[in-house]
Amino acid sequence: MPGYSVPDRFMHHTFLWGSATSSHQVEGNNVHNDWWSWEQKGAVIEKSGIACDHYRRFNEDFALIRSLGHTAHRFSLEWSRFEPKENQWDERAFDHYGEVFQSLKKNGIEPVVTLHHFTNPVWFHERGGWLKAENNAYFLRYVRRVVETYGKYVKFWITINEPIVYLYYSYLAGEWPPGIKSYRAAWKVFYHLLLAHVQAYRLIHDLYEQKSAKPVYVSLAKHWTEMRPDNPNSIADRVTVFSRDWLFNRLYFDALTSGFLFYPGLFCEYLPLRQSLDFLGINYYTLQRIRSSSKTGEWMGAMVEHAPGADSPVERNQMGWVIHPEGLSSLLKRLRPYHLPVLICENGICAENDEQRVRYIQSHLQAVTSAIADGVSVAGYLYWSLMDNFEWAHGFGPRFGIVEVDYKTLQRKIRPSAYVLTELCRKLMAQP
Ligand code: GAL
Repeated sequence: MPGYSVPDRFMHHTFLWGSATSSHQVEGNNVHNDWWSWEQKGAVIEKSGIACDHYRRFNEDFALIRSLGHTAHRFSLEWSRFEPKENQWDERAFDHYGEVFQSLKKNGIEPVVTLHHFTNPVWFHERGGWLKAENNAYFLRYVRRVVETYGKYVKFWITINEPIVYLYYSYLAGEWPPGIKSYRAAWKVFYHLLLAHVQAYRLIHDLYEQKSAKPVYVSLAKHWTEMRPDNPNSIADRVTVFSRDWLFNRLYFDALTSGFLFYPGLFCEYLPLRQSLDFLGINYYTLQRIRSSSKTGEWMGAMVEHAPGADSPVERNQMGWVIHPEGLSSLLKRLRPYHLPVLICENGICAENDEQRVRYIQSHLQAVTSAIADGVSVAGYLYWSLMDNFEWAHGFGPRFGIVEVDYKTLQRKIRPSAYVLTELCRKLMAQP
């Protein structure tokens, strides 16, 4: 097929484009995970409940994706459905996701599958969760089971979604389960998640090799935030941006491509595998202005604070995040030295007004198109999200979907922005 095909190791593959979701945010009734318990305790403003009922309506949703022409779809498997109690495996979950994969296949949609998207089985949490190095073995046992079962359907695996966002909210800010606020805990989880990725990476490749199965590409989905000093003339602000950018954006990728982890506190570690990324999974949303501060309670030796800037004239999404498509252009250029294709696993906006979403999609896909023209290898673009869904601690208020969900009737309605996404991705694919 003429048109744009992704260079390097994705040569045989056309551009992957479409949208993304995660199990807890759309499926409904994930009663065996830690988020569900957190919600029942009243720790957040809303409960996920039946969410979008995607668990029962996935066929309808995939038919809709097909009607929009998407070539790929990212979603997550819910560990707590497979293993609701320690080492007790639920066949119904295996059957269910088997049907999910078949439905995607029937609709000609390439699955991009996340193994861990913020939720854990309650029993795993009770065993100490990600705080204990030995618990990684539980995660790997689950990975083995699902990869052995569904490997025949999958070329693209995402091991862990946004490890640093997860550990920040769960172990440092204490706003997500297990609600811990501790630097020490956060560093432990930082390291255990990094190792979990390396171990899962190796396991997935081994399992595919044993079966001489089709090529497989494994990465994680790394949240990347564009950062600017609040005052470009302030050395303190610039140093803060540099250190925060290193820790938040680059450190994982550096460690996973070099096999060497150096982190503050003068700890050095060698990872058991030098190269454990086949592509760079990126989630990009926004720009943060950073001001150095002596206030406690923030990252990096308590010296960072987001500049509030609520009165500044920049455009923001429904949750107040700054819209900044240039950040996507700059990050795509900054990823070049890794010499790996980039898959944009999430990029999107919550907006009450779909015209704002249309502008967001146009400007960010323009950034992708220019980066490709400049020689950056972009394997695909997955908009967050297919449909409005449960936005964690923010509940159902923020509307991210190219498909609107009426939470009373659970009816889906395609928004105009969905057609814009289709038109622009098709154009991008048709480019020489
Ligand atoms: C990402 C996360 C998604 C979704 C999105 C919008 O950080 O992976 O689950 O919530 O942000 O906030």
